[in-house]
Amino acid sequence: AKLLLLHGPNLNLLGSREPERYGHATLAEIDGDLSTRAAAAGHALQHLQSNAEAELVDRVQAAGRDGTDFILINPAAFTHTSVALRDALAAVAIPFIEVHLSNPHAREPFRRTSYFSDLAVGVVAGFGADSYRYALDAALQRLGTPANP
Ligand code: DQA
Repeated sequence: AKLLLLHGPNLNLLGSREPERYGHATLAEIDGDLSTRAAAAGHALQHLQSNAEAELVDRVQAAGRDGTDFILINPAAFTHTSVALRDALAAVAIPFIEVHLSNPHAREPFRRTSYFSDLAVGVVAGFGADSYRYALDAALQRLGTPANP
């Protein structure tokens, strides 16, 4: 199957951005790790990070046309602001998992609101870079090819 991994604003800084909160793994390491794991399970994983809402909306719309089966998305700050990105995911109706490195519920009150959670298959948050692995495992499970059969 075809999977898409999307990262929102400032996640290009992973590794140096508030490492005590977000960990030391870089985005390239996370993307590489998930691509390897998806390939090992017989799937193709594409990834994109953008600081621009429009680029993420355009990529989700493209996913609606290119046969993408499943999306993993860390909308980052757009989690709490973006009706446009939410609407794009609703429009393409591709199942997705919402991912966060930190646990937004343990932080400032404004992070407790997500424009995505009610549309998501599920939410994985609070496990650092491992959140992405757990989300991928859940996606593979749903696609019928668990990572550790
Ligand atoms: C985040 C949590 C968001 O509240 C924050 O704006 C981010 C990262 C996370 O992965 O923990 O940029 O999505």
